[in-house]
Amino acid sequence: MEKELLQVKDLQMVFENKKRSFTAVDNLSFSIQRGKTLGIVGESGSGKTMASLSVMGLLPNQGRISAGEIIFEGKDLRKCSEAEMNKIRGSEMSMIFQDSMMSLDQVYTVGYQISEAILAHEKLSRQEAKSRALSLIGAVGIPHPDRVYDSYPFELSGGMCQRIMIAIALSCNPKLLFADEPTTALDVTVQAQILDLLKDMQKKYQMGIVLITHDLGVVSEIADNVIVLYAGQSMEIGSTEVIMHNPSHPYTSGLMKAIPKVGEKKDMLYSIDGMVPDIRHMPKGCRFCTRCPLADDRCREEQPQMREIEPGHFARCHKAVPQAKGGC
Ligand SMILES: Nc1ncnc2c1ncn2[C@@H]1O[C@H](COP(=O)(O)OP(=O)(O)O)[C@@H](O)[C@H]1O
Ligand SMILES: [Mg+2]
Repeated sequence: MEKELLQVKDLQMVFENKKRSFTAVDNLSFSIQRGKTLGIVGESGSGKTMASLSVMGLLPNQGRISAGEIIFEGKDLRKCSEAEMNKIRGSEMSMIFQDSMMSLDQVYTVGYQISEAILAHEKLSRQEAKSRALSLIGAVGIPHPDRVYDSYPFELSGGMCQRIMIAIALSCNPKLLFADEPTTALDVTVQAQILDLLKDMQKKYQMGIVLITHDLGVVSEIADNVIVLYAGQSMEIGSTEVIMHNPSHPYTSGLMKAIPKVGEKKDMLYSIDGMVPDIRHMPKGCRFCTRCPLADDRCREEQPQMREIEPGHFARCHKAVPQAKGGC
């Protein structure tokens, strides 16, 4: 068996106020190996960002991990001190944050910001950091790195800024990269270029990538395995091939229908009726029952457990049955 880079077991993450706690990530387990990509897919509010911030040790103030294990390269991250986590984040694990383009500082040149990221975790002279930054700018596919080095973020396109953010995330040569909606703000052509770039970088550095997106289409481009997340729980897990061709959970089927088709106008896009439930008001039975076309009384009363419906393919649905592969 290949060695796992990251193993997350039964992760539970809660938000707490003085009176109560609300579960945003519930019993989530996954693992990832070097050189592989795991897609975590689900609509907004499913818990994708909180799951990744839990692993990175970067949860917001009211949030905390209440149960589970996070093992990175054999090390239990929940037992690491803040200083140890800082070191791991700066050298082995890195993240492209959702809305990360906004986190570029408009007051400094992008070259300065990449150099600072390099200097934060390596003892180099400013000149050495600059030459590393220039080669990173080249590596993320930007022509004329020296010209771009001296540009301010507002002088660059969205796609260009996203490449800079990827350069910053890669500046520590991470073994594991979380990419949280890295292409959402970009148009389709640039989106494809950024996915290609991530694939190239993965090949070059043998990184494990956790790609987080609401778009199953994006996942199908790049991921080896997929977790479909809904209201903090995994609903379906399997290889990308199985999830795309043999989905067994009605939520996954809904997400499939919502994949934008070439030439489709934005206002024609299919979306599943209703919304992801608020963490303060979860349905009693299956969390998807309020929106599921197949839901019956049992679904509304009894929460389904994750079941292996065929080898390596799991679904949390009372009605899931393995489907016959089409064609002969
Ligand atoms: N600071 C916060 N306080 C309370 N609840 C929050 C906070 N941030 C996020 N949540 C809730 O946690 C759930 C998961 O959020 P998130 O991980 O951001 O979802 P996703 O990334 O899939 O869109 C949502 O229901 C969201 O409303
Ligand atoms: Mg998010």
